[in-house]
Amino acid sequence: DKNGYEHYMLKEIHEQPTSIGDTFRGRISIDKTKIFLGGIIDVMPKLTQAKRIIIVACGTSWHAGTVGEYLFEEYARIPVEVEYASEFRYRNPIINQDDVVIAISQSGETADTLAAIKMAKEKGATIIGICNVVGSSIPRETHAGVYTHAGIEIGVASTKAFTSQVTVLTMMAFMIGRKRGNLYDDLYKKLIHELTLVPEKLEIILKSENYIKGIAEMYKDATNALYLGRGCLFPVALEGALKLKEISYIHAEGYPAAEMKHGPIALIDENMPVFVIATKDKSYEKIVSNIQEVKARSGRVIAIVTEGDETIKNMADHVIEVPDSHESIAPLLTVVPLQIISYHIAVMRGCNVDQPRNLAKSVTVE
Ligand code: F6R
Repeated sequence: DKNGYEHYMLKEIHEQPTSIGDTFRGRISIDKTKIFLGGIIDVMPKLTQAKRIIIVACGTSWHAGTVGEYLFEEYARIPVEVEYASEFRYRNPIINQDDVVIAISQSGETADTLAAIKMAKEKGATIIGICNVVGSSIPRETHAGVYTHAGIEIGVASTKAFTSQVTVLTMMAFMIGRKRGNLYDDLYKKLIHELTLVPEKLEIILKSENYIKGIAEMYKDATNALYLGRGCLFPVALEGALKLKEISYIHAEGYPAAEMKHGPIALIDENMPVFVIATKDKSYEKIVSNIQEVKARSGRVIAIVTEGDETIKNMADHVIEVPDSHESIAPLLTVVPLQIISYHIAVMRGCNVDQPRNLAKSVTVE
């Protein structure tokens, strides 16, 4: 049931204030001072003492894992590697008993991710799952896990499952950081509080859907697009590009913003839309100069900015504002306008958004 929406994807985009809330509800104390993740209590000693965390996943789940890498290293201070499950399993990876492997999968059935954890388990690693479908194959192979509780996702292009995966990883990063003594009381409480504000901030972003649709209209005939971000917003750039290519069939690439000058800058001309995720954080000044580099070559800049940002408004062709937040929360807010743009571009191009060509919801073949 599409609940009055034209497509499942649009319904699922709009469900995110609720689905993210469902992901953290019952896991954050009422007074917002503690995080409990019941499903991984038994492996918490392993996790807090891990020498290394290896995240394995495919596609959008791999992008969520890459957001997790930034947050885990920042707050938990544990080295993280994010691996494409298919590459990891076939290269005789070095795994030992002090490693914790986290498998991220919406369906819990992705063949390569399942095979990767089976192999890591044989080599003695502790395996944790972050999955959406309860009772699916991956959770059955793991030692412990956290379900995302996003609710059933029908649109082939993953939206609410991604934000729920990021929500779980964010909670884990904060909780492990706290347990390892890296986060003082005040900061820990502030971070938890910031996470609980995400649903209401997303409601505000979703209210600007018509404005975002207007931007989509201007770029619907593009043949290429670039997406740029830095830090934990770099994987959001990758995810924005994937959403556009998979449902609208426009070629799109995501890059760390500073990598642009090492090649992709050659592609920029007045026909190239460049989506820049440029909210206020510690790399803000750097991303502002990346925007200048694009404008100097006549590229069209669509920037996702913190509300009230006048500097970028004066440089970019369009800005989409998101409410101010702590930088650790920005991936959850900034990905949503990119989902909305992709959705509307695909609809305007007459594409089958819920069932894009050549794609399946669950990839059970390798
Ligand atoms: C993209 C998309 C895919 C999946 C990938 C992994 O929108 O949905 O890239 O993310 O096939 O699937 P799961 O998460 O089920 O393992």
